[in-house]
Amino acid sequence: MFMVNIPKPFFVCVFVFLTFRFPKEKKKRKPNTGVYSLTSTEKKAHVFQPTLPPLDPEWHSVNEKRIELLTSMCRNSSINNLTHVSISKFVLDRIFVCDKHKILFCQTPKVGNTQWKKVLIVLNGKFPTVDDVPEKLVHDHSGNGLHRLSSLTPQEISHRLNTYFKFLIVRDPFERLISAFKDKFEQNPRDEPWYNEDIAPMIIGTYRKSYWDGVLTPSELHFEEFVHYLVDVGVRRRILDQLFTNRIIHWMTYTELCAPCEIQYSAVGHHETLEKDAPYILHAAGVEGLVSYPGFPPDITRYNRTKVEQYFSGISKQDIRRLFARYQSDFHLFGYPRPDFLLN
Ligand SMILES: *[C@@H]1O[C@H](CO)[C@@H](O)[C@H](O)[C@H]1NC(C)=O
Ligand SMILES: *[C@@H]1O[C@H](CO)[C@@H](O)[C@H](O)[C@H]1NC(C)=O
Ligand SMILES: *[C@@H]1O[C@H](CO)[C@@H](O)[C@H](O)[C@H]1NC(C)=O
Repeated sequence: MFMVNIPKPFFVCVFVFLTFRFPKEKKKRKPNTGVYSLTSTEKKAHVFQPTLPPLDPEWHSVNEKRIELLTSMCRNSSINNLTHVSISKFVLDRIFVCDKHKILFCQTPKVGNTQWKKVLIVLNGKFPTVDDVPEKLVHDHSGNGLHRLSSLTPQEISHRLNTYFKFLIVRDPFERLISAFKDKFEQNPRDEPWYNEDIAPMIIGTYRKSYWDGVLTPSELHFEEFVHYLVDVGVRRRILDQLFTNRIIHWMTYTELCAPCEIQYSAVGHHETLEKDAPYILHAAGVEGLVSYPGFPPDITRYNRTKVEQYFSGISKQDIRRLFARYQSDFHLFGYPRPDFLLN
């Protein structure tokens, strides 16, 4: 039996949830418009720009400084228990392999990964250009020739981890959470019904107090409830996370997804400066000229403090502090400033 006190409604809720089935992923996807995108609103608001600026010669040292920071933070004993995770199957599942050009890419959802996956699919030779990769194939790993590191043998895995060019892309951790919330619960543009039909009711059932006080038809998930779920350090979140399976990758930390203190990444791109980072990464990986990253207007990837303030305006200081505590490894390892304007 559980040794912790869990409110009875929670078990009811788990039972209700277990009787749900996650619907099968529908194959219908929006056509590729050639527009760089993070969320559908961002997508709609901007027009296609065909090319990125050329490689900035300064960017090599920018990347070096990021790697130095990462290395020194990984050694910092005061945050040691947060920054170290083992290279588990879960982590190996997040890493995509391009053997032809000896590249490994760790996927960090809500940071523009679809475009990078297309770049790797092109590099693997399946399609001539990024625009030729059908949207529905990007996440279909049986059909797109882009396999996960976890599909290889232990020897093959360590050989690649030791010798390949390895990279990941990050962005401000709180802005990423907002993006996950908007993309999965507010807008859900990709036709993934399980977020609003299964996951949201579970979070509401567990964290909304009024839910069990007579209000039987819950409205949509509030950002505040999403935060309550994220900051819960108890058994309830652990159970929910298990029920949600791999869908939690949209809000797990970069640390948990990519083990950046165990795997020595060669480059860390920042979403906020992607127009500089994309050409740099292609150059550093030795594939400059073989594939182009789709152009986009730089302002769509910039940090938007107004948006962050808006979303957090209804969240208590205590919850923001807890949220920061949970995500602080991502802030520290990747050089994002502590959001004092929210915490103080
Ligand atoms: C270690 O991390 C803590 C918490 O972020 C920070 O205050 C401290 O300056 C760091 N120490 C070093 C040597 O970087
Ligand atoms: C990590 O260690 C600090 C003390 O050094 C502690 O306050 C914190 O709760 C620990 N975090 C985890 C996730 O264990
Ligand atoms: C920042 O976010 C606010 C609120 O969501 C929005 O109105 C504004 O247009 C955004 N600014 C930029 C530059 O995208």
